[in-house]
Amino acid sequence: MQRINASISVDQRLAVQDVTASRAHCAMLVKQQVISAADGAAIDGGLVHIMGELQAGSFPFRAEYEDIHMNVEARLAELIGPPAGRLHTARSRNDQVATDFRLWTRQACEEAAGAVRGYQCALLDLAAAHASTIMPGFTHLQSAQPVSFAHHLLAYVEMAERDRGRFLDAATRMNECPLGAAALAGTSFDIDRHATAAALGFDRPMANSLDAVSSRDFAIEAVSAAAQCAAHLSRLAEEIVLWVSPAFGFARLSDALTTGSSIMPQKRNPDAAELVRAKTGRINGALIQLLTLMKALPLAYSKDLQEDKPAVFDAFDALELSLAAMTAMVRDLQPNRERMRQMANTGYADATDLADWLVRALGLPFREAHHATGAIVARAETLGLDLAGLSLSEMQRIEPRITAGVYAVLGAQHALASRTSYGGAAPIRVGEQIARWHARVQTEEK
Ligand code: ARG
Repeated sequence: MQRINASISVDQRLAVQDVTASRAHCAMLVKQQVISAADGAAIDGGLVHIMGELQAGSFPFRAEYEDIHMNVEARLAELIGPPAGRLHTARSRNDQVATDFRLWTRQACEEAAGAVRGYQCALLDLAAAHASTIMPGFTHLQSAQPVSFAHHLLAYVEMAERDRGRFLDAATRMNECPLGAAALAGTSFDIDRHATAAALGFDRPMANSLDAVSSRDFAIEAVSAAAQCAAHLSRLAEEIVLWVSPAFGFARLSDALTTGSSIMPQKRNPDAAELVRAKTGRINGALIQLLTLMKALPLAYSKDLQEDKPAVFDAFDALELSLAAMTAMVRDLQPNRERMRQMANTGYADATDLADWLVRALGLPFREAHHATGAIVARAETLGLDLAGLSLSEMQRIEPRITAGVYAVLGAQHALASRTSYGGAAPIRVGEQIARWHARVQTEEK
């Protein structure tokens, strides 16, 4: 029974939250004259002492006391004697754990949002250094149209901003206090739930005691935000794996962020990126674990709810590590400008530009222009040339009305510069986006 029942090995991570919530509860009991000022002072002194032990790492966590709440109370009794027994007036471990866990998860969301901002700043710095670094943009992992490296990185800045928003939204929505819901139905003592809620930084007490002790959608929402964030991180992690492979050769990671092979001396393996990719599975697993845990659980508290914490702790640990690793890799990444430029100029990534020119300059319907371009690309392929290298007479054999003006749009550089629509890849537009992000991040710092 002890082995299956005890949760102290996991919920000891709630120790600081537990003591903090107990101090708020104790102060409220004194204010409401539910316990005497003398008992209240003894309890608070003991709790402050316990907080010191926690910070010093000397608090004795003991499995025989089952969970963090019983451990703190048992230690309090050792320290101050009989008054300790009055702390648990008008509360239950059910509202205690719900409160502690909300405090922990709220902080985890706020820290995740901060770490995402750090990752975005790393992306932004790299983007600012590469506003005009050309790279092939892909669809289906096939060279499609040229973009800039900065434009590519800024796509991840945008994704990360929505991730941040999800963490902050979750933190706001969960910011209601379960304390005082007691076991499930509230209490007959004259408590002040608004006071404890305010003391713990919550916006208000939760309005329904059954909901307060038995809901964990706050945890599900937080881990769901983590899963979405991890999914975004895994996409860039995967691209880093591709970019640093010699077959792509788009970028290099330093020794500090790669590992060697024990048998192949030439290897520079992007293990950190691969692990970020893999940790996504772990965080998704935590989300499924929580959703499954909550499914069809009748009101109110059941011990099933004790199994919520390992999933949340593990998910946020994995996310914290993934964000730190991605930030470090982005700061370390050394793009190979020449190789990316070269690849942007192969694979006929300017074919769309030729088709667009035929529409604009000759008034062809786009479908017809697309067809003529296909024929010109085929001819260039046969001759082993890129489009800019194909002579005017060769082009005119397919579409006689083509003039030398066409060369102004061919080649990756021209193709890139022409994509000036809002949100497009042209350096002029990307420069505006970098400036917008810089302004945004700087106002926050002030
Ligand atoms: N360790 C428990 C948990 O994590 C605390 C609540 C225990 N409540 C109870 N009625 N047994 O959920």
